[in-house]
Amino acid sequence: MTGKNNEAESKRQRDYIDKVRETVEGKGLKYLVVTFGCQMNERDSEKIAGALREMGYEQAFREEDADIIVYNTCTVRDNADKRLYGRLGVCKAYKTSKKDMLIALCGCMMQEEQVIEKIGRSYPYVDLIFGTHNIYKFPELLYRRLSSGSRIIDIWKETGDIVEDLPTLRKYPFKTGINIMYGCDNFCSYCIVPYVRGRERSRDPKEILREAERAADDGVVEVMLLGQNVNSYGKGLDTKVTFAELLKEVASIDRIRRVRFMTSHPKDLSPELIRVIADNEKIARHIHLPLQSGSDRILKDMNRHYTGEQFTGLALRIRAEIPDVAITSDIIVGFPGETEKDVDDTIAVIEKVRFDGAFTFEYSPRTGTPAASMEQLSKEYVQKNFDRVLGTVQRVSKEQAARFEGRIMEVLTEGEDEKDPSRYTGRLSQNTVVHFTKSGPGPGAMVKVKLDECAGFYYNGTVWVP
Ligand code: 5AD
Ligand code: SF4
Repeated sequence: MTGKNNEAESKRQRDYIDKVRETVEGKGLKYLVVTFGCQMNERDSEKIAGALREMGYEQAFREEDADIIVYNTCTVRDNADKRLYGRLGVCKAYKTSKKDMLIALCGCMMQEEQVIEKIGRSYPYVDLIFGTHNIYKFPELLYRRLSSGSRIIDIWKETGDIVEDLPTLRKYPFKTGINIMYGCDNFCSYCIVPYVRGRERSRDPKEILREAERAADDGVVEVMLLGQNVNSYGKGLDTKVTFAELLKEVASIDRIRRVRFMTSHPKDLSPELIRVIADNEKIARHIHLPLQSGSDRILKDMNRHYTGEQFTGLALRIRAEIPDVAITSDIIVGFPGETEKDVDDTIAVIEKVRFDGAFTFEYSPRTGTPAASMEQLSKEYVQKNFDRVLGTVQRVSKEQAARFEGRIMEVLTEGEDEKDPSRYTGRLSQNTVVHFTKSGPGPGAMVKVKLDECAGFYYNGTVWVP
């Protein structure tokens, strides 16, 4: 499915922003957007914040100071759901002392029927609920809530539309995410994403490049191209374009100094992409490549379409062709039917690939996914295996982290080191954090830093003056 760009809709929403501003302006009202989950949600939150800012709301930094709180939710694992319900409990107290405060909910969790029922039953003080497909309608929905005074719930099952050109407020002035596609068609058997984010739709490359150019005009030097499976970018578009081609084009924008992307599905990562990264210094030396499991049997049940050996082969090819590349991953422990032997296979892949970092998750059954109706493992069994995997990941990635000690490398300065304001914090192309002496230009600047010492997973360094 391709995403149809809808200019008329974008104009309508801008009109609603103006209408809300008429009622909000001059009142000193404040907003807070709280984001759970992934980079996609971070990006969506920038759009919500952008709309609120244009409506005349100012940013609040604590929930209790806000006149409207928007929770952008995640439902990929059960603990994200629990965190939202925890926050909603606290909101009840705010609402009793501050009657006009508005609570809005959006994001992946809202696409699940049982969640909407539960909120209807147990959290009647929520004012506005919308989903992942109609996020661009936020200005209109908020206007309707403000003018009617009654709760608004608007959830769509699916959409083909992509509405461009709405305001956005970047969390960092010098880096931003850019969606290149929405949704996912892979249906990994444990994953809720295809159900809550819908079918895969790629954005027009011209729109993506225009957004990147505009970001560069605003002073952005690092962009991250976002999609659930960026390697299948371009399917269904009129223009024939691969992800590797798009990446090359974005990296060719002069003022953009670094391009990242997230996430790659191993089954679709092409030799062309590896070549493009190897040939282009501006593309980050970092590939996030979710393994999920190293056992062929479990990978088959997960519907991942590769074997442990194929994954290892791919990762080692990437390492051979892109010197200094960092490979990070996601791993699930406790998928239904997983035995100690399967976990041994996962550990074997971690040892061979030597991940520079990996998120290790306990499998969490999601209602409506195929794996949720399989027989589940006991908590104790999973915990033991989880500890084994986590231990391996930590050991391997700590060894990997130290490999650049003593080298002089480029760091993108992000801001002051929170623990020591006399120093700056930034990131290597590999995504590793570096704390370094505060000399030279500040946030947004690319500086050469000598990596004096690796302290676990980050470096302490000094700005390099030749
Ligand atoms: N349980 C545990 N982890 C999951 N992930 C996705 N769905 C689940 C689930 N049901 C993990 C995968 C994915 C990452 C974003 O979240 O590892 O790559
Ligand atoms: Fe979920 Fe698999 Fe799609 Fe990733 S590729 S979002 S794990 S279904």
